[in-house]
Amino acid sequence: MIYSDKVMDHFNNPRNVGVIEGADGVGEVGNISCGDIMKISIKVDDNDVIEDAKFQTLGCGAAIATSSIVTELIKGKKLEDAVKLSKQDVADELGGLPSAKMHCSVLATDGLKVAVDDYLAKQGREPISGEIKSADPNFDPHEEDDHHDKDDY
Ligand code: FES
Repeated sequence: MIYSDKVMDHFNNPRNVGVIEGADGVGEVGNISCGDIMKISIKVDDNDVIEDAKFQTLGCGAAIATSSIVTELIKGKKLEDAVKLSKQDVADELGGLPSAKMHCSVLATDGLKVAVDDYLAKQGREPISGEIKSADPNFDPHEEDDHHDKDDY
């Protein structure tokens, strides 16, 4: 399996690792098929702009790299724009991901959505993230990947 230089960089030197003390929103999601877990905390300003984001990911290299780049991509973004980040956007930003690893980026994008909705709920506001598949304990992200080779795991 070949990873881009950017994936390897974010895997070896992940950005924004940790937990924000007093975070405004927290999201945690898991991937039942591989057992990987991602937790993200965000700080949001009065204009619904994400000021800071940190993550902890217990998972594969692609999950760590995608979590890392998502925390970079969302800083300075409005909540409504941040939750639109797709797994394809994340993969493109990393210079591509092997097809068998595309589902790993769902951890980061879904974790972010949970964190955003958590922030909004604490403010008594409606959620904006729509369906969050990873929040369903029976969701298997591998079923979304059409082409993968079992040897890639
Ligand atoms: S997220 Fe579990 S294999 Fe990548």
